[in-house]
Amino acid sequence: MSRIPLIAGNWKMHKTLSATRTLLGELQTAVADVDSVEVAVAPPFTALAAAVETLRGGSIRTGAQNMNEAEEGAFTGEISPVMLTDVGVNFVILGHSERRALYGEDDELVGRKVNTALAHDLVPYLCCGETQGEREAGTTEAVVSRQLLAGLAGVQADQAASLVVAYEPVWAIGTGLTATPEQAQQVHASIRALLAERFGESVAQSIRIQYGGSVKPGNAAELMAQPDIDGALVGGASLDAASFAGIVRATAAAGS
Ligand code: PGA
Repeated sequence: MSRIPLIAGNWKMHKTLSATRTLLGELQTAVADVDSVEVAVAPPFTALAAAVETLRGGSIRTGAQNMNEAEEGAFTGEISPVMLTDVGVNFVILGHSERRALYGEDDELVGRKVNTALAHDLVPYLCCGETQGEREAGTTEAVVSRQLLAGLAGVQADQAASLVVAYEPVWAIGTGLTATPEQAQQVHASIRALLAERFGESVAQSIRIQYGGSVKPGNAAELMAQPDIDGALVGGASLDAASFAGIVRATAAAGS
């Protein structure tokens, strides 16, 4: 089964409104002729409306970087799924390692958010990944499967085909260290096997599994050439149109 690769930019806490419009304008031009790769961006909450407006009518998708699991309520500083669909976004990144490590999000909370996102027709990009210590201890696959099983608790097979999994080794995020294509493929294959056990083989074959962690134009092609790597979640290199477009182009070339 061929899956359309998905390259998504996680802008984290970067870009003002004017910088968002500038970057997206440049990006639209830079990837206009690429149609074999799906492209998505996750700007900060304050720039989502501007991003949706700038990208209207085009093929680049807009998503959020986080979301509360409730529809509304007394949750100071939080953003609900209703607010995200109202602004016109299409997906939401959930369980990013920075949310887990810096803001105390645990597997169960991430699972509740995934179910809420699906109930509101937002595509969850469910993040997972081991720390350096967990890799050295040989527990990578155990950690990733624990995160995924909890993150997907309650999700039905017919909802699962649309979701996206992002495997991001914590030691590779923002560090310049990247998993080798072989290391990444090994974990991706184990994730696909877990998805097949959980949802059946045909659903597992349709779920896209992105790699994340210091993806750059120079290392994207060899990662994307792996059979179970279906795209990338890109942090730092997504903040510049030329480097992000370079990753999109390398991905298109790897698939052709
Ligand atoms: P990075 O971030 O590309 O800057 O390593 C990836 C991520 O955190 O999603």
